[in-house]
Amino acid sequence: MTGEIAGQVALVTGATRGLGRELALALAEAGADVAILGRGAEDGESAAAEVRAIGRDTLFVAADVASQGDMDAAATHVLERFGKIDILVCAAGVGLPRQPVWESDADDFRRCFDVNVLGVMLALRAVLPRMIARKSGRVVAIGGSYGHKGVANFGVYAASKWALRGLVKSTALEVGAHGVTANLISPGGVEGDRLRRQFQASADANGEAFEAVLDRFVAGSALRRLVTGGDIAAALLHLVGEGGRNVTGQDLIVDAGTIV
Ligand SMILES: NC(=O)c1ccc[n+]([C@@H]2O[C@H](COP(=O)([O-])OP(=O)(O)OC[C@H]3O[C@@H](n4cnc5c(N)ncnc54)[C@H](OP(=O)(O)O)[C@@H]3O)[C@@H](O)[C@H]2O)c1
Repeated sequence: MTGEIAGQVALVTGATRGLGRELALALAEAGADVAILGRGAEDGESAAAEVRAIGRDTLFVAADVASQGDMDAAATHVLERFGKIDILVCAAGVGLPRQPVWESDADDFRRCFDVNVLGVMLALRAVLPRMIARKSGRVVAIGGSYGHKGVANFGVYAASKWALRGLVKSTALEVGAHGVTANLISPGGVEGDRLRRQFQASADANGEAFEAVLDRFVAGSALRRLVTGGDIAAALLHLVGEGGRNVTGQDLIVDAGTIV
């Protein structure tokens, strides 16, 4: 096995589906053993089967990122099985239905912040002491371009991504002296089910065609295109590889040039 991360162990939250799953598979392709964390057992086991098919060792860990008990137990389970965690990727996240702030309620806010912010904090809490003890580790949290601007009808979700940046940048300052890096990747709209659902909701709300929403979105980017999971995976592999050795406290925006 060759490659910069060959033989390393990664824990990826939100790896049962969507972007997190793509990132988990990319890490496996690059030579890492990968623990898949999420709540859905069927999706989790099928993601683990894909990692196995790539030829890497894996484990599905059922856990709710918003539960401190689940996350502490999950980290212990992964460490018992693999002996170490070199890479932590926090990709678990939830969106909210399109709605103005005055139609959001406390439950919406808590659901969003519980997963998108507390969920990352609890993963950091569970994993960082072990990285610090080994004086080595790479942490990458998936933020979002909505954490870099105000976004009408997505205010609560945007606020959660702004908060996440504060958490991860502060963490970078704390762990740096222990040989650990902590960064974010902030994707723009990633091609996939979630974005399709979001565009359809906007189209329905405005009484326009799906393609009109897509065209307008793409026209707002310098490169006039959506990003793919592969783009985010390439950024991740850079941050966890040799090229990311001296990169910490940063937020790499991968959005085809929308936030410029
Ligand atoms: N898709 C985009 O266009 C886009 C753009 C910018 C940023 N992002 C960010 O990228 C990340 C992934 O988004 P996605 O589009 O791939 O979402 P997705 O398809 O809805 O997948 C979300 C993942 O998070 C997991 N998850 C949700 N709540 C959880 C909880 N309480 N505990 C454990 N796992 C939980 C889900 O697993 P289970 O249901 O099995 O628990 C699933 O694996 C999110 O942080 C999102 O904000 C996405």
